[in-house]
Amino acid sequence: MADESQKWVLMVTAQTPTNIAVIKYWGKRDENLILAINDSISVTLDPAHLCTTTTVAVSPAFNQDRMWLNGKEISLSGGRYQNCLREIRARANDVEDKKKGVKIAKKDWENLHVHVASYNNFPTAAGLASSAAGFACLVYSLAKLMNVQEDNGRLSAIARQGSGSACRSLYGGFVKWVMGKEENGSDSIAVPLVDEKHWDELVIIIAVVCSRQKETSSTSGMRETVETSALIEHRAKEVVPKRIIQMEEAIQKRDFATFTHLTCADSNQFHAVCLDTSPPIFYMNDTSHRIISCVEKWNRSEGTPQVAYTFDAGPNAVLIARNRTYAALLLQRLLFHFPPNSETDLNSYVIGDKSLMEDIG
Ligand code: ADP
Ligand code: DP6
Ligand code: CO
Repeated sequence: MADESQKWVLMVTAQTPTNIAVIKYWGKRDENLILAINDSISVTLDPAHLCTTTTVAVSPAFNQDRMWLNGKEISLSGGRYQNCLREIRARANDVEDKKKGVKIAKKDWENLHVHVASYNNFPTAAGLASSAAGFACLVYSLAKLMNVQEDNGRLSAIARQGSGSACRSLYGGFVKWVMGKEENGSDSIAVPLVDEKHWDELVIIIAVVCSRQKETSSTSGMRETVETSALIEHRAKEVVPKRIIQMEEAIQKRDFATFTHLTCADSNQFHAVCLDTSPPIFYMNDTSHRIISCVEKWNRSEGTPQVAYTFDAGPNAVLIARNRTYAALLLQRLLFHFPPNSETDLNSYVIGDKSLMEDIG
């Protein structure tokens, strides 16, 4: 290395949005490589609202890899972090920072350590896909730091080894995670379906029912489902493949009625297989159920669906309104049914469209 002082630090900061599945991934066929038992489709949220910000730094003064999540040091000894670090390091290239007079040769990376500081601007481990934004951002920022030349598809296969849902956060818009067939996972990657401009009328509202950490992580929840549920195989083999085809078509055509039907049905089936797990897993709570009833009744009274709902592995609602008008009406309804400072107060609303907030004051 050119710099002998050992005092230099090179840093990269990246920001990655989270994504919410409209056809859910639930169940692995390979726990280590994180290979899914079905394809899934998600929508990536606006990074202005829900995102992870990660800074990665390298210096000869660091004597081990370390990471801080939301200000607290966490262990990197878990297989997932190690797999991501190893895969990125293996693809590192020469890096030169002329201003700092630093030159790192490809072969030096295996002896250099990194420090990582990551922040989620939304609840961690509460069913809002923090692992998706988190691992996508970790892989992306490490790849930038180490001058990795892989495309987003190849990077998605590395992010997948951190958390399955993370592979879908490397693209905006609607994204499909193709489960793949290969045993080594080389074809288990994310592919963009349409970019964020394709259906930009949609407004996503997140109603935070509870921001506490969930009792059953997604990882252990889906493992228990695969081990004990009789319904999961039917879901993965019979139901999801058909829904994937229908959902892709609905997204291409911007067919909101079909989109809503599939999104709500898939969320409900995912929670049904959780209930079919032994012991049963309850991710939704009474407030989540009340939100579902409220949206279902409203959609029926309108004659045609105006709002889709989906819940990940947690009680928080992700509501997708057909357009800004219905998003504003939805907010009014939520405020009416779940008034502030009441027992069922929804802690906050995160609105996927900045100008909407100005519209409604
Ligand atoms: P969620 O529903 O929020 O995705 P999971 O149970 O799937 O919850 O994953 C939560 C775990 O993801 C955390 O315990 C942590 O290990 C990891 N994680 C969350 N945020 C980050 C981040 N910013 N960087 C790296 N890992 C993260
Ligand atoms: C309900 O990707 O968090 O959000 O791969 O074990 O890290 P691991 O699980 P994770 O599971 C996400 C499950 C889900 C549905 C989805 O995002 O598709
Ligand atoms: Co997760």
